[in-house]
Amino acid sequence: MKLVLSFIITIVLSVIITITITTLLSKDRLGDKLEPDMFRMGEEFIQLYGANGSDEAARFLSNTSFIHFSFIIVDSEYNRRVLGDRGPTLPIDKSVVDNVLRGDRFSTVESEPSNKPKPNIVGIPFIENNQKYALFVQSHPQRQISVIQDVQLIQLISVLFIGIILFAYVSTILIKPIQRLSGAMKKVGKGDYSVQVEHASSDEIGLLTKNFNQMAKELNKIETMRQEFIASVSHEIQSPLTSIKGFSKALKDNIVSEDKKQQYLTIIEKESTRLSQLSSNLLKLASLDAEHHPFHHKTYDLDEQIRHVILALEPQWTEKELEIELDLERVRIEGDEELLEQVWLNLLSNSIKYTHQSGTIEVSMASMKEGVTVSVKDTGIGIDEEDQKYIFESFYTVDKSRSLKSNGLGLAISKKIVNLHEGSISVESRINKGSTFTVFLPDKKSQST
Ligand SMILES: Nc1ncnc2c1ncn2[C@@H]1O[C@H](COP(=O)(O)OP(=O)(O)OP(=O)(O)O)[C@@H](O)[C@H]1O
Ligand SMILES: [Mg+2]
Repeated sequence: MKLVLSFIITIVLSVIITITITTLLSKDRLGDKLEPDMFRMGEEFIQLYGANGSDEAARFLSNTSFIHFSFIIVDSEYNRRVLGDRGPTLPIDKSVVDNVLRGDRFSTVESEPSNKPKPNIVGIPFIENNQKYALFVQSHPQRQISVIQDVQLIQLISVLFIGIILFAYVSTILIKPIQRLSGAMKKVGKGDYSVQVEHASSDEIGLLTKNFNQMAKELNKIETMRQEFIASVSHEIQSPLTSIKGFSKALKDNIVSEDKKQQYLTIIEKESTRLSQLSSNLLKLASLDAEHHPFHHKTYDLDEQIRHVILALEPQWTEKELEIELDLERVRIEGDEELLEQVWLNLLSNSIKYTHQSGTIEVSMASMKEGVTVSVKDTGIGIDEEDQKYIFESFYTVDKSRSLKSNGLGLAISKKIVNLHEGSISVESRINKGSTFTVFLPDKKSQST
């Protein structure tokens, strides 16, 4: 838009400037100056004629500056003598001749220039040898034509010249922000995502710059997340390894009692399990992130699947003497069975992990036209409002000491899986009262009809 507009403005401006300049010039040359010029020529001619006679005057008129002018001398008997340019001369009214012979001046020159060249005549009275004469100076249109040609040439040159200057100026204004953008792009290309380009305009280039800034910001965010992720992973790997290393060294050195030995071995085993879980969770996270993740669609019984997961977790919840309440109905859904099983497993194991002895876990289901919701409600420790914002992010755990031996990946993975099914996951929780996690999965069939 800006480009087109500036192009139009450039053209319009140069035409306006040119027209102003050339009308001023041509007015000067065609109208205002013509009349006095012709009178002056006439007077000079009369002087010459008086002093040197008609032959000398005729020779004088062969001078090029008199080209395109005829000098007509009329005496009181109306006899005409034409000197100078012998181009066609106009008939002159007797009354006009009489007037000039009587001593009046005469002129047909219009002060307003017209683009239609026409001959102009001025008349001057003079007396020679006591005889009254009228001198008429007639311009031939060729003169005006040549002036108009000059004017047109000037117009053409100035349109070109002014156009080039204006366009060069406008282009630099347009090019500057593009150069700034290009420099910033180079920086981004080299990995510096912190660049931001100033932009004030709201045109296409402004929009481009705004989008570029947005892109750089996103890239910067991703880069920060990537670095944080690497730091977290390293930390997650480092801490179990440190404890494994410490305990195995103690065992190797044989400085521990028999019952401590068992305890250390149990820790080593637990930490190894945690490491292997971490590695498989990381793999899952990476593969879910990849766009080409294999997605095995299948229609199956959701209630059946949830019952199966609860059964698989029985050792954990019986150990804590938790009461499990089920409110399930028969619902068939379409989705990736294996991935969704991971979601229920994560939510239920969280509820078991974060609920005190003898608590209650309630699993309920509601199927609607648009889809199905599954809620997992516990009477556990709850999550405070500030933490609720972050629990779905990788490696986020409320208990920073990690005493519960967790990596903070379960909910991040669950959220990714639910998103892959175009569903949503949310939490409602009050500290020391309990939490409710709700998953909504849309019904693909109801969406497509
Ligand atoms: N039902 C719950 N009650 C209380 N806090 C919870 C509950 N579910 C999750 N949280 C909090 O959210 C955090 C993130 O949960 P998430 O499942 O992602 O990780 P994790 O359980 O700590 O580790 P992982 O699942 O990787 O073993 C947990 O560390 C915990 O603080
Ligand atoms: Mg978890």
